[in-house]
This record gives sequence, C-alpha cells and structure tokens, in this order.
Amino acid sequence: MPVPPAGATQTANHIDAVEDTPLLHDSRDPAETDTDRMVQPPNPSAVEVIAGNSFTGPTGWAAQVGLVVATVVLWRVLWVHPAGLFTYHPALQSLAALGFLEGILLLQPQPASAQRKRKGLQIHQVFQYASLVAIVGGAAVIIYNKAIHGAKHFTSWHAISGLITLGLIFTQIIFGAVIVYTPLQTTFFKSETAAKQLWKYHRMSGYLTLTFLTLTPLLALASDWVRNNSTAVERGLIGGGLGVAAVAAFARVQTSKLGFKRR
Ligand code: HEM
Repeated sequence: MPVPPAGATQTANHIDAVEDTPLLHDSRDPAETDTDRMVQPPNPSAVEVIAGNSFTGPTGWAAQVGLVVATVVLWRVLWVHPAGLFTYHPALQSLAALGFLEGILLLQPQPASAQRKRKGLQIHQVFQYASLVAIVGGAAVIIYNKAIHGAKHFTSWHAISGLITLGLIFTQIIFGAVIVYTPLQTTFFKSETAAKQLWKYHRMSGYLTLTFLTLTPLLALASDWVRNNSTAVERGLIGGGLGVAAVAAFARVQTSKLGFKRR
C-alpha cells in the first residue's frame, strides 16, 4: 500500500501498521510493498516534524502558549531577583520541564508515515536526553546548595515530589533506552507483537511522569523563596501556564495507544 502524502486521509490498516512499527530498528513502512518503497516521499526535516506535530489543533497551541508563559514569567522572576547558586535550580528545572513536555507533544499525533514516525522518535530522544541533563544539573545544584548551607534535605512537599519525579524520569529513560538499544525485547518476547506491548507501559509511565513534572513546580510556588520574590500575579501565570500545558497534553493522549480502547 502506498504511503499517503502528508495530510492525506489514511486507511485504518495503514495507521495500524505505522503505529505497530518497531521503534528505530526498521525505517520502512510495514504496510508497503517493494514497488511502493521506490516512490517513498523524502524524509521530513526536524523542523517539519515539530511544526506539524507539536502545534496541531487548539490543544497543541494551548500547550505551547502555556509553556511559553510559564517559562518567560519564571525566568523574569529569576532575572529580577538573582539568588546566586540557587537561581540555577529553578532555571534548569524549568528548561527541563519545557524540554520533556516538547518531547511528549511531538509524539502525540498519529504519524502520517513511517518516516515521520522515525524522525519524531529521533527528535523525542534528543529532547528527553537534553532535558535529563538539565534536570540532573538542577537537582545537583539545589542539593549542593542546601548541603553547603547546612540545611536539611527533602523537608517540603516540593522536595519530596521532586525526588519522585527524578526517580520516575530515570526509570522512564532507562526503560526506553534498554528497549531501543539492546536486544532485550527480542530475547524476552517470542513475537514482535508481544514486544510492542512494552511501549504501552512506556507511554503510561510517561504520563505519570508528566503528572509529577507538573506537580513539582506547582508545589515550588508555595516555597518561601518563591513567595518572597514574586507577586501573586506572577505565581498565577507560572502555575496557570503549566496547568494549561499539562491539561492540553493530556487532552491529546490517544487512549488506543495506551491499550484502553480498540481502534
Ligand atoms: C521538575 C522541576 C523540579 C524538580 C524535579 C525539583 C526538585 C527539587 C528537589 C529534589 C529539591 C530538594 C533538595 C533537597 O532537599 O536537598 C528542591 C528544592 C527546592 N526547589 Fe525545586 N524542583 C523543580 C522545580 C523548581 C522550581 C520551578 C522552583 C522555583 C520556582 C523550585 C524551587 C525550589 C526551592 C525554593 C527549593 C528549596 C526548598 C525546598 O526544599 O522545598 N524548584 N527542588
């Protein structure tokens, strides 16, 4: 079956086949024939995939606007109230939250072709690994900053939620990397279909991680430092922006990909 051009209506079979393509191992569309492969559309660029996937529909735009508002207002607060080493904690964590969310938004719409899906997955990894570096850096800064000031660790809800977030992110990234880069999935699962079921769990735990990734900065808004250095309007814009982005991302979830509903 030929790969329809971007934007063209696709058959249910084609969507099923694209959705079930193993991640990164196979660049071909599972539903195509040898003849079809000779007339493949050119590989989409990263900009094309991001522009086409991350901004689709009102929910895509709502998520983007919410993220921009939350990040810009928070960075303005940090700029106006410099706090030495501490500043790097919220600065890095907000970049990490932005990156992780962009990496999720990018994958949510059904890919128009196997090439688009493959490109989307490559960009997803770039976003998630870069955000991992930022979040580990941000966590190291606050732990070190507390240690040099002799302050107790993990005493607030924000700190506890932050620790859970870090644990979930590590689990999520290790699980994803093991499945993609090692032969484990074919070693443990007899059929490829059974192996593909694993991705359902990566998606589910991904959305649990997203919940904590939103909750943690929201809890930070109640901390003494934030309350003493920002206005209620600024806190409202940061919290509101983050909340809108998370709700919009959840509204874009395709329940069929999580195995809750049959296509
Ligand atoms: C996903 C994002 C974030 C994560 C994972 C995170 C994680 C953490 C962790 C683990 C701690 C405790 C360190 C310790 O007790 O040794 C902490 C403390 C802190 N964080 Fe964050 N953080 C995030 C975002 C933010 C943001 C956006 C702000 C400010 C707007 C912020 C402000 C603070 C403050 C003031 C503390 C010290 C007070 C306390 O322990 O609650 N954090 N954070």
